[in-house]
Amino acid sequence: MERVVLCVVFVVVCFSFGNPLCSSHDSLSLLHFKHSLNATSDHLYGCPNSSNPKTTSWNMTSMDCCRWDGITCNSFTGHVIGLDLSCSRLEGTLHPNSSLFQLRHLQTLDLSANDFSSSQFPQGIGQLFNQEGLNMLFQNLTKLELLSLSEVNISSSIPMNLSFSSSLRYLNLATTNLQGDLPKSIFLLPNLETLRLSQNHLTVSLPKYFNWTHSLRELDLSYNNVSGGIPNSLRNTFKALKILRLSGCKLAGPFQEFIRNLSQITQLDLSDNHLEGEIPEFIGQLSQITQLDLTDNNLDGEIPDVFSNLQMLTHLLLQNNNFTGRFPSSLVDLTNLQVLRLRNNSLSGTIPEFKTNSIGILDLSRNQFSGSIPQSLTHLLNLTAVFLGQNKLSGGIGAEMFSSMKNLQYLDLSLSGLSWSGNSNTTFPLLSYLALRSCGVKDFPDFIFNSKDLWILDLSENEIHGQLPKWFGGFGALANLNLSHNYLTSLDHIPWEKMMILDVQSNSLSGPLPSPICTITELFMINLSYNNLSSEIPNCLFNFSSLRVLDLRANNFHGLIPNKFPKKSRLVHINLSKNQLEVRASHTEI
Ligand SMILES: *[C@@H]1O[C@H](CO)[C@@H](O)[C@H](O)[C@H]1NC(C)=O
Ligand SMILES: *[C@@H]1O[C@H](CO)[C@@H](O)[C@H](O)[C@H]1NC(C)=O
Ligand SMILES: *[C@@H]1O[C@H](CO)[C@@H](O)[C@H](O)[C@H]1NC(C)=O
Ligand SMILES: *[C@@H]1O[C@H](CO)[C@@H](O)[C@H](O)[C@H]1NC(C)=O
Ligand SMILES: *[C@@H]1O[C@H](CO)[C@@H](O)[C@H](O)[C@H]1NC(C)=O
Ligand SMILES: *[C@@H]1O[C@H](CO)[C@@H](O)[C@H](O)[C@H]1NC(C)=O
Ligand SMILES: *[C@@H]1O[C@H](CO)[C@@H](O)[C@H](O)[C@H]1NC(C)=O
Ligand SMILES: *[C@@H]1O[C@H](CO)[C@@H](O)[C@H](O)[C@H]1NC(C)=O
Ligand SMILES: *[C@@H]1O[C@H](CO)[C@@H](O)[C@H](O)[C@H]1NC(C)=O
Ligand SMILES: *[C@@H]1O[C@H](CO)[C@@H](O)[C@H](O)[C@H]1NC(C)=O
Ligand SMILES: *[C@@H]1O[C@H](CO)[C@@H](O)[C@H](O)[C@H]1NC(C)=O
Ligand SMILES: *[C@@H]1O[C@H](CO)[C@@H](O)[C@H](O)[C@H]1NC(C)=O
Repeated sequence: MERVVLCVVFVVVCFSFGNPLCSSHDSLSLLHFKHSLNATSDHLYGCPNSSNPKTTSWNMTSMDCCRWDGITCNSFTGHVIGLDLSCSRLEGTLHPNSSLFQLRHLQTLDLSANDFSSSQFPQGIGQLFNQEGLNMLFQNLTKLELLSLSEVNISSSIPMNLSFSSSLRYLNLATTNLQGDLPKSIFLLPNLETLRLSQNHLTVSLPKYFNWTHSLRELDLSYNNVSGGIPNSLRNTFKALKILRLSGCKLAGPFQEFIRNLSQITQLDLSDNHLEGEIPEFIGQLSQITQLDLTDNNLDGEIPDVFSNLQMLTHLLLQNNNFTGRFPSSLVDLTNLQVLRLRNNSLSGTIPEFKTNSIGILDLSRNQFSGSIPQSLTHLLNLTAVFLGQNKLSGGIGAEMFSSMKNLQYLDLSLSGLSWSGNSNTTFPLLSYLALRSCGVKDFPDFIFNSKDLWILDLSENEIHGQLPKWFGGFGALANLNLSHNYLTSLDHIPWEKMMILDVQSNSLSGPLPSPICTITELFMINLSYNNLSSEIPNCLFNFSSLRVLDLRANNFHGLIPNKFPKKSRLVHINLSKNQLEVRASHTEI
């Protein structure tokens, strides 16, 4: 028995390495196709950074097209059955006479993410598929099982008489600028498993019955108009559906009943709609679910405490709704939960102790949680982001609470009610966002000493006195710094380099402005108001081309205010009041 198998393998290897496999008809069709389009040097965002387009290897050096990049052949017949030219930087238009449509054995065709509408071309040219091209594609490539044209600008309505090849199992037309209705024939496909149409301008009204509800695994209609929702008649038909995305589909009203029967569902995304009412308890029966996203709806009532059966759940996203009641306690036992976002609801009561430690992102901000912070937080070693701001918590918290979270990147306790208790020698090398507004901070936090990637720092409304530490001057990535409403006396050691937004209003700053302020290149907003700064205003402050907001009110600045600003100035808000400034005589130019 074994000997027979070895023989067969040997024969196959011989065959595929010996002769050119590819038929000359197919190589010629591919070369024609290559020459009918241009491979540009433009790099398309999101594509891998490869130096050569795949079609570079399509040349006469080897006429065996089965060895060219992006080609798959049937190893017995030699027919080209797969063509993957995703991210190949191709430009041009496929006319109905294109030799692509001669590759009649193609089963998979992936032309996604090609920049067919590059700005080099005048508008209306450089569109890969027009209606005729699409028609020809399906008319001639009748064996297509997989078609992906995502991120190719098709920019037209799908021809209503399109006859899809009935073998189609996977169809991806996401982000193609398609408009209008879907042709009815799409609902007759017998074996469709994946349909992705997200980010277009389609109006999708699903018929009462259609052929592929039983085979369907993934349906993504996000960011189209599906205002009719899923017809009730379909409620028992999505037996195999694993992924359903209806984000931004203009859905309104209560949760639809059909969801109850999605027994295989793993990912359900209904975010960014107008759903109202409560989450039904049947959500607790979707035992395969890993990701549930109901962000940005008008849902209210209590979050049903039915998560104990949902042991696969990794992402629960319920932010920006109107939920009331308590933190669902069945969440604390989930061993796979990685992302929990309950931000911006009206939840109250205490935050319970976590019994597992899988969680990486915890966002409970903008609620009305009270009581002290759960001690178990200390054990959540995988936390990278903790947002507890704008709550009614109480008690103390310090850096040592987070000391085991070496991957912490985001920490927001602003207006949480918690008070920050002193420093520790813990450091957070990856921290990029820290917000401790109104947390009773008395000393500039030492624990950020090592956080060289810090990008946003908010220490406003605290009790920090005196000077900033010298080492803070080396924080070259800092772009947004809010130290307003403290008792700082000096602007020394502010890392100016990348600063975009600086707010130091209402401190005890005095003396002249430090000269490095003129070296900033990206400054967008600066607020120095309500201090005791006293110098002339450096001219550079009026010359920043990026600056929009300049607030110097209530200081001791003196000298002349220019009566003209440079043409390139983008200032929209300027307040120089309550200073000792004079207006320049009107004939003077700056
Ligand atoms: C390829 O680019 C050249 C130069 O930009 C242009 O003249 C030609 O029409 C393009 N060919 C196709 C097929 O788009
Ligand atoms: C892409 O390649 C260029 C030049 O080879 C290089 O400078 C750039 O850093 C690369 N970008 C990425 C994201 O790898
Ligand atoms: C032709 O294709 C081969 C690989 O098939 C590649 O190594 C070679 O660089 C290509 N020649 C040209 C001129 O692009
Ligand atoms: C294919 O059709 C286009 C547009 O109709 C035409 O410009 C082009 O010459 C045709 N190419 C061939 C090879 O017939
Ligand atoms: C497409 O198929 C039709 C027959 O259905 C054939 O006449 C035509 O030549 C084919 N088109 C191409 C580009 O091969
Ligand atoms: C897509 O193509 C249409 C028509 O050619 C053009 O008007 C539109 O600007 C293109 N869209 C993008 C995002 O390139
Ligand atoms: C679809 O209709 C267009 C005209 O609207 C026609 O040119 C084309 O041949 C039709 N295609 C099919 C597959 O019937
Ligand atoms: C679609 O389903 C209907 C009803 O079961 C059936 O009559 C029809 O043949 C199916 N269409 C295709 C294209 O399979
Ligand atoms: C969405 O489609 C419905 C018809 O199904 C239509 O009444 C409504 O105006 C459309 N909404 C938008 C914003 O296009
Ligand atoms: C939330 O619910 C409260 C009370 O039911 C209501 O007054 C408020 O308008 C709702 N807010 C939103 C954003 O729906
Ligand atoms: C923490 O994260 C790592 C990497 O994502 C993962 O392998 C590990 O299982 C997680 N730990 C827990 C307790 O979930
Ligand atoms: C700093 O760390 C050392 C051990 O590395 C420890 O003994 C000491 O108590 C820590 N100090 C503070 C203030 O946490």
